[in-house]
Amino acid sequence: MEVNTQDIAKIGALLNDKHKPLPERFRALFTLRNLGGDVAIQSISRCFQDPSALLKHEVAYCLGQMQDERAIPILVAVLEDGNQETIVRHEAGEALGAIGSQTVLPVLETYLKSEIPEISETCQLAIERIKWLNSAEYESGPMSDNPFSSVDPAPPSSHGSIDEAERKLLDENVSLLRDTGQCLSCSSALFRHEIAYVLGQMQNRVTVPALIKQLANKDEEGMVRHECAEALGSIAEKNCLEALKDFLRDSERVVRESCEVALDMFEYENSSEFQYADGLNKVTNTI
Ligand SMILES: [Fe+2]
Ligand SMILES: [Fe+2]
Repeated sequence: MEVNTQDIAKIGALLNDKHKPLPERFRALFTLRNLGGDVAIQSISRCFQDPSALLKHEVAYCLGQMQDERAIPILVAVLEDGNQETIVRHEAGEALGAIGSQTVLPVLETYLKSEIPEISETCQLAIERIKWLNSAEYESGPMSDNPFSSVDPAPPSSHGSIDEAERKLLDENVSLLRDTGQCLSCSSALFRHEIAYVLGQMQNRVTVPALIKQLANKDEEGMVRHECAEALGSIAEKNCLEALKDFLRDSERVVRESCEVALDMFEYENSSEFQYADGLNKVTNTI
């Protein structure tokens, strides 16, 4: 489908309309992320004025995923803005790491000294990622053609058949996943948040009890409980959906909005022939 600038601006208006339901605004955001380009970036950037930390953190995340250097100035401004919530500033810092430009190293270095651990740790990781992206090791190493674009802690094994290696890896992953309860109680909130995010991507039901337990933990940081809710939404077993319904009225806004959006994504994906990622027709038709 051919999309012109006017259509993109319309989707941007929907994203920025505070009277629209949050799940609809999320769909508009994902559509703009997939379309990319200057108008999409401008529309997405306007959203940092919104009262929903959940929406703003997703906005920062999407700008990072788009890997377009035109988003750098707004992401730097958000990282520097002490009035933005920590989860939003963190996601802006992480997005700068994802874009990978060396021009942001000085600003990231300044926030290494932030008193907020989630911000200083984020900047540390972003700096390391940018330096690695620009290193000779990255240019020449086998990791540059890693299909998962992840940095592996050990070189690939050259022994045994692929089948054997795969089986071993799966076994190891399952036993590692069974220990997620422990990982989700490590001391860094940033790390717990990233663990929950990765578990959502892995979509393995073994991790569900640990994710539900952490979602229910009222002493846990909102940014971690949020990520647990999102992970449960992507695993989407019956007990995951029940847990999400239980927290639709949580006292913390970022948690109840996460549950609302996660449940909506699940229903949307299962109730229509449209997939979430390419729901452009639907989004443009509802404007
Ligand atoms: Fe994050
Ligand atoms: Fe998140």
